[in-house]
Amino acid sequence: MLAAATVYMPRHQRFTRTMGDPVQFFDDLAPSYGERYAGKPGFHDYYFGERLAKATEGLQLDGRHVLDIGSGTGDLYAALQPRFPGMYYLASDVSPRMLEHSKVPPGQRMVGHIYDQDIGDRRFDAIFMLGVTTYMEPTELERNLEWVARHLGPSGLFIVTFTNRHAVDSWVRRLCKPMLNAGSAGKGNVLTSGLRIHQYAHGDIRDLLEARFRITRWDALNHTIFPFNRLFPFLSIRVSRSLASVPGAPWWLRPFSSDLMVRAMAR
Ligand SMILES: C[S@@+](CC[C@H](N)C(=O)[O-])C[C@H]1O[C@@H](n2cnc3c(N)ncnc32)[C@H](O)[C@@H]1O
Repeated sequence: MLAAATVYMPRHQRFTRTMGDPVQFFDDLAPSYGERYAGKPGFHDYYFGERLAKATEGLQLDGRHVLDIGSGTGDLYAALQPRFPGMYYLASDVSPRMLEHSKVPPGQRMVGHIYDQDIGDRRFDAIFMLGVTTYMEPTELERNLEWVARHLGPSGLFIVTFTNRHAVDSWVRRLCKPMLNAGSAGKGNVLTSGLRIHQYAHGDIRDLLEARFRITRWDALNHTIFPFNRLFPFLSIRVSRSLASVPGAPWWLRPFSSDLMVRAMAR
């Protein structure tokens, strides 16, 4: 474990905050972000619950070293800790306020880019990056992937999600963006935030990862489609759940899956 400190921030690290800056956006969202996991039943509750369930399915992490990059408010930790009380967990995030609201114990949180942390040659049994690649510039993603490949243990697993560029949900959201911008979509809405969003097709993800990793599993996530998932959440979720047991990410399911998740091992 790192030495106990409320938050570990390398001194040389500085963030420039501008409109559309992920740090600013997630700092603002931090006080309410955890409600997405523990809120009333509806779209968010379904979306985040499914992602957590599939990301952790079948894992045995007791006594194992786990790293969560872009950990947000620590909801992955809250899900894993009761199952694996003996795991060693570290969480990192570029948003200081997300970490201030985190469920991860203070001495296990690091603020900043993972590749700037003083971690030495430590290896992890599992490295998670859930819901984060969407907000990373391509060069930033490359640096993270390179770092992860060097810090996975011999049988360590990298579990990472991507927003699916070829999802009908993504196309509809792109079409609706001008209308949402004109309306009052509200604080915390990624579409109207000015954030640059990065989406990846199945083939893009394979090409990105296969240089450094061996992909061992694909999952297709969230088969609801905007705006029906907001207008008719319970019907959308019921249809989506009936597709959730399909294994892998077959070609016919990908257009109906807003996110793709990969498990991979270092080569
Ligand atoms: C949508 S939230 C996901 C949080 C958490 N992983 C989850 O599944 O609930 C995205 C998180 O990624 C963080 N983030 C964005 N860019 C990052 C980067 N380059 N490195 C680390 N974290 C980043 C944000 O601050 C935010 O907390």
